[in-house]
Amino acid sequence: MITRRALLAGGVGLGMSAALGITPARAAARRAPLSDLFQLGVASGEPTPDGVVLWTRLAVNPVALDGRGGMPDRPVPVQWQLAADENFRTVVRRGTATARPESAHSVHVELEGLEPGAEYFYRFKAGAELSPAGRTLTAPAPGTRSRALNLSFTSCADYQTGWFTAYRRMAEDQPDLIAFLGDYIYEYGAYDHPVRDQAGGECLDLAGYRLRHAQHKADPDLRLAHAVAPWAVVWDDHDVENAWAGDRPSLARRAAAFQAYYENMPLRRAQKPHGAALRLHRSIRWGRVANLHLLDTRQYRDPYACTGGSGTVGPGCVQRFEPSRTILGQEQETWIDERLRNSRATWDLLGQQVFLMEMDWTNGEGRGYSNEGWDGYVASRDRLTAAIDAYQRNAVVLTGDVHSHWAGEVKRDHQDPESKPVAVELVTTSVTSAGDGMDVYPDTADLLRENPHVTFCNGRRGYVRTRITEREMRVDFRSLPCVTEPGAPARTSGSFVIEPGSPTLNPA
Ligand SMILES: [Fe+2]
Repeated sequence: MITRRALLAGGVGLGMSAALGITPARAAARRAPLSDLFQLGVASGEPTPDGVVLWTRLAVNPVALDGRGGMPDRPVPVQWQLAADENFRTVVRRGTATARPESAHSVHVELEGLEPGAEYFYRFKAGAELSPAGRTLTAPAPGTRSRALNLSFTSCADYQTGWFTAYRRMAEDQPDLIAFLGDYIYEYGAYDHPVRDQAGGECLDLAGYRLRHAQHKADPDLRLAHAVAPWAVVWDDHDVENAWAGDRPSLARRAAAFQAYYENMPLRRAQKPHGAALRLHRSIRWGRVANLHLLDTRQYRDPYACTGGSGTVGPGCVQRFEPSRTILGQEQETWIDERLRNSRATWDLLGQQVFLMEMDWTNGEGRGYSNEGWDGYVASRDRLTAAIDAYQRNAVVLTGDVHSHWAGEVKRDHQDPESKPVAVELVTTSVTSAGDGMDVYPDTADLLRENPHVTFCNGRRGYVRTRITEREMRVDFRSLPCVTEPGAPARTSGSFVIEPGSPTLNPA
């Protein structure tokens, strides 16, 4: 029996082999020279009302320094099954895909014609080996009244900085959908005193990015989070290079990072890179409840205002107000405007990377704004908040990047103290980045006082859990006491309720 509990325990019962008509002894006897092919686990993503993407990548040695996972330089056939039940008694689809060396032996199976709003289970088989089983969901049919969407999201998983316990705690909630908002890997070389040793140096080429992704995917906590629910992913800077923008890094390095990102994520063919271009912005619709619009604030942004690099700029930096400046690029700005205008869902969720709200990060005297967030692209923010306002959308912005939990209200015009809020912003903390942290930093109270539209902060690691219906959105900020030791519990450090028609955070 493969129960959900077994799934959560990371267990793949003997029952799986039996279900395919292979006894463990026979499987062992027929075992090809390759063994432990499924160390990188399984994943699914991009749910639609009739489909989902199933993913796996074969590797017998995830930390092989050439990024090939110890795999031979030849294609390997991979069978897959999709079942309506966790015991794989009712297999509704099956097929064979090919794991090719030029795709780092990854497999993307793009399914269509499935039932809307349904739970499925899937697994792969290569040679005589069975993968662990995964659970996935299709989205509800468009326009239909549906049950709640349980959506969790997080960001920023630096392998060297700690244990991926937040992924495990997120998986234990069994959400319907997991959104990952960037920094799935860090491209850096080895730190002086890492919590965990990573293989390889700084990611500079395809081998380096493939290796880093493989090491992450081999982590049991991350494997579990991928196995329990479909994911919707966007990248941030470290998936490529710290603070990348404009003409940095080189096209070759960008293309390498993009290729490894596609190979290692449960993405559709539409997200396959073409050299140094990958279209990551897209929407995931969840019945009448929500549209999740995934934005890419990295690939098309104008260079940083005033400093030439990312950093904090003072009120004297007027370049950040230039009307022509964009963080999304013109095509994506038009796209999100159309998406919001045509939306019929109760909620429009904007999954993206960097602070949308204005934020004065300088304590006390003076003001300082991050030119890496939307504060560096004020006109771009104005166009987005104008669209949310004009089309009367219930917008909730889901953000990562800053390695602490924040919640607040996005104003139509942050330059005007009387301006009304048009959206709520929920900023998730990191999985590990910044280490154990503190619930309340010494400067937190001052930052909240100087930014009255920001109402909540917690400085631990974790994730955000939401439950979204047509009547309300409930939000729990989940925080872990530490990531330098494995197995920490998660607790709720803040809870809020948001109601349609009122872009404000109410205490739960
Ligand atoms: Fe980060």
